Amino acid sequence: MTILSADNVSYAFPGGIPALSNLSLSVEKGRRLAVLGPNGAGKTTLFLHLNGTLKPNAGRVTVAGKPGDYTRRGLNDWRRRVGLVMQDADDQLFAATVFEDVSFGPLNLGLSEAEARERVEEALAALRITDLKDRPTHRLSGGQKKRVAIAGAIAMRPEVLLLDEPTAGLDHPGSAHLVALLERLSAGGMTLVFSTHEVDLALRLADEVALFSSGSVIAHGPAEAVLADKDLLAAAHLRPPLLVEVCLKARELGLLGSGTPLPRDPSQLLQLMDRWVKERASAS
Ligand SMILES: Nc1ncnc2c1ncn2[C@@H]1O[C@H](COP(=O)(O)OP(=O)(O)OP(=O)(O)O)[C@@H](O)[C@H]1O
Ligand SMILES: [Mg+2]
Repeated sequence: MTILSADNVSYAFPGGIPALSNLSLSVEKGRRLAVLGPNGAGKTTLFLHLNGTLKPNAGRVTVAGKPGDYTRRGLNDWRRRVGLVMQDADDQLFAATVFEDVSFGPLNLGLSEAEARERVEEALAALRITDLKDRPTHRLSGGQKKRVAIAGAIAMRPEVLLLDEPTAGLDHPGSAHLVALLERLSAGGMTLVFSTHEVDLALRLADEVALFSSGSVIAHGPAEAVLADKDLLAAAHLRPPLLVEVCLKARELGLLGSGTPLPRDPSQLLQLMDRWVKERASAS
């Protein structure tokens, strides 16, 4: 079932700056979609359309098959179902303290103070920022702000979570932890759409990849296929993940069967290498 779609959407910012050009993209419920493309390709602009913040100049956005409702009540309902973690956390955070910021959404849903508190504590723990809860948001580091913004979005328990460059600015453990959290949310049924410049992250986390160029989608398909297509990726100023290049070579050399799925992270490749060495030893 299609949970969100952009159908032939065009959008120009005031002053006539083109951002989206006849763009179509559909998001299936429960999937994990990575949006890749160069700076200025329109990723952020699309996300702002997918939660109703921007309205197309032409074309339309649908939510669960229905045209987006831009009335005040419609937008409230839309944002309850479709959460957005913005690229720049400074655009998202507004309350004085971390706890207040993350509480805002759940309280707005009409939850009791006790229920809201429970959700906030759970979200802070999930992002490992419980210790920051009484800190002023404007005095946090960039990566800390990003974690607070993500906590605020997941505390709403949306059906679809849009994340605009979620790992940008996070340190390695922070990023690895976020990937594990997103996997858990996905296993619980949440639909994920994220933009990134990291092809490795797309390979690790996405089922599907959409490539953007100049405000349009130039390819959309299974992550494995899109991330192995050098020419397509080059058109979006990207190259295949190193892991994919190594594994394609392994396929060419007959080490990896053509039907065997490509490893999604380096540890899976290391296991395969151990197996190859054992097989070679037993064959000789
Ligand atoms: N508020 C704005 N006013 C005017 N033009 C804008 C605004 N925001 C974005 N644009 C323009 O719209 C186009 C698409 O920008 P967008 O931010 O969607 O790109 P992006 O793919 O998210 O890029 P990045 O990888 O740098 O985040 C660009 O040409 C950009 O300069
Ligand atoms: Mg962007």
